[in-house]
Amino acid sequence: MLTSIILAAGKGTRMRSQLPKVLQPLAGKPLLHHVLATSQSLAAQQTIVVAGFGMEAVQVACQDFSITWAVQAEQLGTGHAVAQALPYLQSDDVALILYGDVPLVSQATLEVLTALVTEQQPLVLLTLNLSNPQGYGRIVRDAEQQITRIVEQKDASADEQLICEVNTGIMAVQAQHLQQWIARLDNHNAQGEYYLTDIIAMAVADGYQVASAQASDEIEVLGVNDKAQLADLERRYQKQQAMTLLTAGVTLVDPARLDIRGKVEVGMDCYIDANVILTGYVKLGHGVRIGAGCILTNVTIDDGVTINPYSVLENCHIGADSRVGPFARIRPGTVTQARAHIGNFVELKNAQLAEGAKVNHLSYIGDAHLGAAVNIGAGTITCNYDGVNKHQTIIGEGAFIGSNSALVAPVEIGAQATIGAGSVITKDAPTAQLTLCRSEQKTLPSWKRPTKQGCKE
Ligand code: UD1
Ligand code: CA
Repeated sequence: MLTSIILAAGKGTRMRSQLPKVLQPLAGKPLLHHVLATSQSLAAQQTIVVAGFGMEAVQVACQDFSITWAVQAEQLGTGHAVAQALPYLQSDDVALILYGDVPLVSQATLEVLTALVTEQQPLVLLTLNLSNPQGYGRIVRDAEQQITRIVEQKDASADEQLICEVNTGIMAVQAQHLQQWIARLDNHNAQGEYYLTDIIAMAVADGYQVASAQASDEIEVLGVNDKAQLADLERRYQKQQAMTLLTAGVTLVDPARLDIRGKVEVGMDCYIDANVILTGYVKLGHGVRIGAGCILTNVTIDDGVTINPYSVLENCHIGADSRVGPFARIRPGTVTQARAHIGNFVELKNAQLAEGAKVNHLSYIGDAHLGAAVNIGAGTITCNYDGVNKHQTIIGEGAFIGSNSALVAPVEIGAQATIGAGSVITKDAPTAQLTLCRSEQKTLPSWKRPTKQGCKE
């Protein structure tokens, strides 16, 4: 059985934050969630998280994952951290050591790494050649290119500091050996810590060959210690995601001005303008155009839809060939069928729009069903809330609601009905007739404009 051990006990002092380091967000979710998601995608039968600083908050934030928690009250080094997880390991497990602050290691890389573990080769390291290896533990190899040990930056000689192959910290080890080696660690080094990396020399001393796998991309092994590294990793990650969309054929006006905080699926010939943010699960059909500055959260958009600039959509479904915005706000529960038009300064909430329904200007439509080809005039409001409960407005197909009407729910407007502009509709309106509710217009023929007092004519 494969068991991941994720080290996540550190405070992250350099973050200068109340939030534990592993809960700092990358692409909208905690660093630790990225590692947990990858770990659990491996069909690892078990995931152990070693927590310490801010453990309660970390546990609450990770409720949706299946985790065995180990506690490291004091941070005495990476070896000591792994020791806290040992009681939860079976001796025939393969342990995969991961880090809560190294969020972007990929499933593919970890699969290669763990597949290299055998009886004869019980320890495999993930390494990487870096042009600037400063700060990392270095991989020391002998004349036959066999790994002999890892030396930490602070303990390395001048010659060893020239080595460019670094320890990513990520490794896969047979649990039975890990248990024996961890028990033999000491803290006689520059930092006075129990270094996990010292087990490499132990494996070599016990006569085993230590194998290594190479990470495919630097982004996979970059750790996050401060806000500058967090921002840097965020940009790199966003660039990587933008590249994925470009490869899928999406036109991005500027790949550096798109943020994806979740998962995006796209059809052919989609176009995304600058400064768009896609959050949660966003699905775009073929030929979808998203204007500048739009924010889409958990949205499904069918083929041929145009979302005009600065529209904000959340938990909704937009039917094929519809038009939205500019400056539209579509709130949860809204579903439109094909060819709906939602114009500027329109707010929809929990609204169902049948084919061809139009709400083009300055309206609030909440808790409502609009039939096919309904036309809502400018400034129309559904009064869906009486201060205590929410009520429904139902508008039959082909109905025409005059501008600046207030539809006081619960209320039903019949199919093909016309509502006169400026009406306050409190009772159901019949099918195919004009209903209006406003005071009648009058003209006073004898009325004269007042004149300035004290003036002689
Ligand atoms: C470690 C490796 C180094 C490697 C580098 C890669 C060791 C001794 N060194 O160094 O070879 O190049 O990672 O990034 O392993 N942690 C705990 N409890 C502790 C100590 C650490 O949970 O007592 C966690 C930290 O929260 C962090 C991770 O382990 O997530 C790594 O610890 P850190 O002190 O940052 O190790 P490095 O000095 O970076
Ligand atoms: Ca580190």
